Amino acid sequence: MSFQLSQRWFHQIIILQMLVAWAQGSKKDLFEELWGLGKSASKQSGRRVLSHDLTMDEIFNYWQKMYGRWPSATFEQYLAEYRQRVDGAGRSWGTPKTDEELLDIYYFLRNRTQVPHAPGWTPERDKCGPVCHLYGTCNQELGICGCPRGRKGPDCATPVRTSCQEYCLYDDECHRIIREWCINECNGRGTCVGGVCHCYPGYFGADCSLSIDYDGGQGGRGPGATVLLAGLGYTDNPRGPRIYMYEFPPEMNLWGQLWVDRPLNVILWERFMSLGLREVDPAKADYFFIPGCARRCNKWDEKFQFIIEHYGQYWNRNHGRDHIMTHPGDWGRCERSWTDTFDSFVANVTMLQHWGITVDRSTETHHALFNSCYIPNQDILIPPMCGDMYWQYENNVWHPYRRHSPILKTTLASLAGSICGWNSAEEPPCRKRYYSLGVRAALWQLRDTPGFQIAKRVPNIGQSMAESEFCFAPTGAGYGKRNVISVTLGCMPVIISDHVTQPYEPFLNWNEFGVWIPESDVKDTEVILRGLTPQQKAEKMEKLYCAARHLSFTTVYGGLFEGDTGEFDAVATLVHILRTRKRHPGVPDHKLMEVDPEFADLMACKHHNSTTAATDIDETPARPPTPPLPLAGITSKVQTTIDDEAYPQRTVTTAHWIKDANGKEAGQRDSSGGDMVAQASPPPRQLCLFNGDVVLYADHEVPEPSDITIKRDMRPGQCMPRNGNRPSGFPPGGSIMCPPTGPITKQKYRLPRELVHTTHHCVNHPPLLTGLRVINGAAARWSPGQPIIHTLPTLPTKDSVLLAANFNTSTQLPAGLLALRPV
Ligand SMILES: *[C@@H]1O[C@H](CO)[C@@H](O)[C@H](O)[C@H]1NC(C)=O
Ligand SMILES: *[C@@H]1O[C@H](CO)[C@@H](O)[C@H](O)[C@H]1NC(C)=O
Ligand SMILES: *[C@@H]1O[C@H](CO)[C@@H](O)[C@H](O)[C@H]1NC(C)=O
Ligand SMILES: *[C@@H]1O[C@H](CO)[C@@H](O)[C@H](O)[C@H]1NC(C)=O
Repeated sequence: MSFQLSQRWFHQIIILQMLVAWAQGSKKDLFEELWGLGKSASKQSGRRVLSHDLTMDEIFNYWQKMYGRWPSATFEQYLAEYRQRVDGAGRSWGTPKTDEELLDIYYFLRNRTQVPHAPGWTPERDKCGPVCHLYGTCNQELGICGCPRGRKGPDCATPVRTSCQEYCLYDDECHRIIREWCINECNGRGTCVGGVCHCYPGYFGADCSLSIDYDGGQGGRGPGATVLLAGLGYTDNPRGPRIYMYEFPPEMNLWGQLWVDRPLNVILWERFMSLGLREVDPAKADYFFIPGCARRCNKWDEKFQFIIEHYGQYWNRNHGRDHIMTHPGDWGRCERSWTDTFDSFVANVTMLQHWGITVDRSTETHHALFNSCYIPNQDILIPPMCGDMYWQYENNVWHPYRRHSPILKTTLASLAGSICGWNSAEEPPCRKRYYSLGVRAALWQLRDTPGFQIAKRVPNIGQSMAESEFCFAPTGAGYGKRNVISVTLGCMPVIISDHVTQPYEPFLNWNEFGVWIPESDVKDTEVILRGLTPQQKAEKMEKLYCAARHLSFTTVYGGLFEGDTGEFDAVATLVHILRTRKRHPGVPDHKLMEVDPEFADLMACKHHNSTTAATDIDETPARPPTPPLPLAGITSKVQTTIDDEAYPQRTVTTAHWIKDANGKEAGQRDSSGGDMVAQASPPPRQLCLFNGDVVLYADHEVPEPSDITIKRDMRPGQCMPRNGNRPSGFPPGGSIMCPPTGPITKQKYRLPRELVHTTHHCVNHPPLLTGLRVINGAAARWSPGQPIIHTLPTLPTKDSVLLAANFNTSTQLPAGLLALRPV
């Protein structure tokens, strides 16, 4: 054991050294610099602001760095040629102003550069003819030339203006779309041109990972077969499932924005690859992955058309049941971005989405998309990724930092966020009935109740939630993300959303580590939360730690928890669900753990073959039996719902149950002897109980209070706002360390953009993140202010895919590494 341990540590130290070496002295991939990325990256957010354009001279120089120096005479000649070209077009020498102008100089240089090509590739063998590879990438299986944005035609020779509306979410960023990231950074086999890999000749696919085994011997499937990452030591994961990934012409997905806003599709692409699950032979595939982009620009119709045309037999094999799509939009399936013709296609796929409503509540909520948007036993409710939350996740109660700075739970229950509508300062009564199903508005009534903290805005939602025992996790405009954020931070989630499937339900039972209250019982919230005994809460907290590991993407964004290996993370959980479903066809999800002990162990965060039975020994003294928790079905207003069948084990907590289980006194605020809050750990004196009378809640319209007002309103025993760790410019009264003691003025204290995003919206910009990305068994690191990716050499995916790290956000150095076990 200790030998293994030290070996593991040794391994990690080696990796650590490699990382640091790469970070310091690597020959950098300069394509980001070529496009002017990172020039003005803000140190604080790490976000690469796309504002600096490189001049033409700079671009010529970067090109030299990437592909080696031309003899100076050649360099001068090319420079002169390009000057002429610019003059001829009536432009001025300097900074390219549009994507078209950037593409122009890019193609000029590329055409004069000897680039590598795939082994065995020759111009004669190319399926697309001699011109395609100058401008685009030839899909060597289908003979289709795929163009970057700005080019069209059979060999991409025709420049086109592309419509911003059609491909991007935000108009004003449109001409900069050329600076999109590429999947797997093109695996070093091409140039990233606006999210589309311009692969070196012979390589193809969205990330240039594919090539043809022209002479046989590369993949074992014989000459002419497609191979994956030829020569890079890619190994299939023998446990599967084998996932075929469709390669669509780039205008069907890669032209759109991939990263902005919920990059689930791209992340899964990269992780399926790095887990060794990608299968290039459709005949052998267990699943078929239909990649999307962010939200709009998905071109689903074109994609289904393409599948039927080229891969119809594989669709028909199972009527598309083995096809997987991602839909990370607020309303999942209900956000229809395909025409009626393809309804019956989409109806058959497995949708990976975040919105879990399973009954029609559109009339009651006046919102068409509050309808049955999720199909149990077919779709999978993926936890929202919340990549932009990862720096705040350092506040979680299980983080290695907690050894030195423990979190005190100072609030009984909190909710930070808009009450009546997305990013809205409105207060109840709310105009929109659908927003959070009215639950936030109902909870607003608790804002003056001691122990509760209900605020529209807080400076650090991570800290706020970590310091709360319970966190409300309502839905939002569509899905909510507070369920996952709260679990990840170590706060027991309070779910008040009837018929809304929670992430990874029914494999996770949310009432076991949180509190699921029927909407009709929202008035009993305080009684229920105060009524849970310390023992019951401790049991929930133990389960919560396992749930946190299933719900966070640690193998994507980096480690978060002391002692965690990432083996149960959200990606691993998804892979296991797919694998287990495949193993037991026809078995409903809620029975899978029963029939598959390995899967049951995974969901319980246990090694399947672990011989230690320690977790089964209950050392706590026998307690009187508690009555069973009520099943959700019997508390529901809706008479017939598929939930009763799909989630027969879903339980809820009610005030009745609290009284039956814990006695009549349970749940009362000031009962002598039976005060559950007082008994809870941490001990009562650390609980910040404050006088509701003087607490003013966040109000965007009222001017901020002076220090004098704050001091006057403070009472002995109240928490003093701590000033440390507060973003500069944030008013003292708005600190979340304490309940807000004064209003937050929107006009005067405009929150930094990234903070607004963090508190209100789950926008994922990879550049916001610190962490390590696992790429084909190799790893790439990014860090704030240092946006260049450093790639580590490929590691075999078979026995250990390593590497996710915590980075110390102040030093940019790895603070800890995780050895990831194979999934
Ligand atoms: C690429 O180079 C060839 C030969 O030098 C030339 O004929 C062609 O016009 C060039 N294409 C571009 C786009 O510069
Ligand atoms: C969807 O599945 C059903 C069978 O469940 C099948 O009849 C139908 O043709 C499928 N739709 C498509 C477009 O394949
Ligand atoms: C448990 O699994 C590991 C890795 O899969 C294997 O090396 C080990 O022999 C297994 N132990 C038992 C007791 O089966
Ligand atoms: C991160 O680095 C800073 C600066 O060296 C250091 O003060 C701090 O303790 C580090 N944090 C952790 C958790 O290692």
